Amino acid sequence: MQNDIQEILYSSEQIQNKVKELGELLTRDFEGRNPLVICILKGAFIFMADLVKEIRTPLEIDFMAVSSYGQSTKSSGVVKIIKDLDVSVEGRDVLIVEDIIDSGLTLSYLVDVLERRNAKSVTIVTIFDKPARRTVGLEADYKGFVLPDAFVVGYGLDYAERYRNLPFIGILKPEVYEKKNT
Ligand code: PRP
Ligand code: MN
Ligand code: MG
Repeated sequence: MQNDIQEILYSSEQIQNKVKELGELLTRDFEGRNPLVICILKGAFIFMADLVKEIRTPLEIDFMAVSSYGQSTKSSGVVKIIKDLDVSVEGRDVLIVEDIIDSGLTLSYLVDVLERRNAKSVTIVTIFDKPARRTVGLEADYKGFVLPDAFVVGYGLDYAERYRNLPFIGILKPEVYEKKNT
């Protein structure tokens, strides 16, 4: 599995340090607001678990599963809700936890959904950002690392459902996905 990685961009330790920093900022900013912290499955599951341990103020969590990429390396542009929230966001300060913002389509769709459901506020935290690929005007309120325009996997991010369990973020060797597409 590690053999399929061309280059490690950020090590597990670098990521953990960044998560701690983000946790401190969020603790300060969400103190006394009892935020509803929403993990966007599947990609954000590892970041979510690491991050909430670093937010030292009461909060609630919920999960939403959406998918726009499927088995491909390109976004289909159509966002599907596979699993919706269990609780209402009405009047809540919502914190969306995402692994990566690429085109921005997934989150612009979700922010819209949550605002239409009358969330009091919608805040975005992402551990990775790929601004070069943005097709819609969407920015995270908090972000960890800015990544180059390469196909990355690990720390929750997959290619065809694999590599999510790598503890670091790295660039996938092109021959791994070129093989599949031919
Ligand atoms: C990936 C990633 C983000 C989204 C970012 O999810 O986890 O949720 O794409 O891309 P965008 O900004 O272009 O919308 P994916 O749809 O692959 O589902 P997954 O989290 O289950 O892997
Ligand atoms: Mn995702
Ligand atoms: Mg994916």
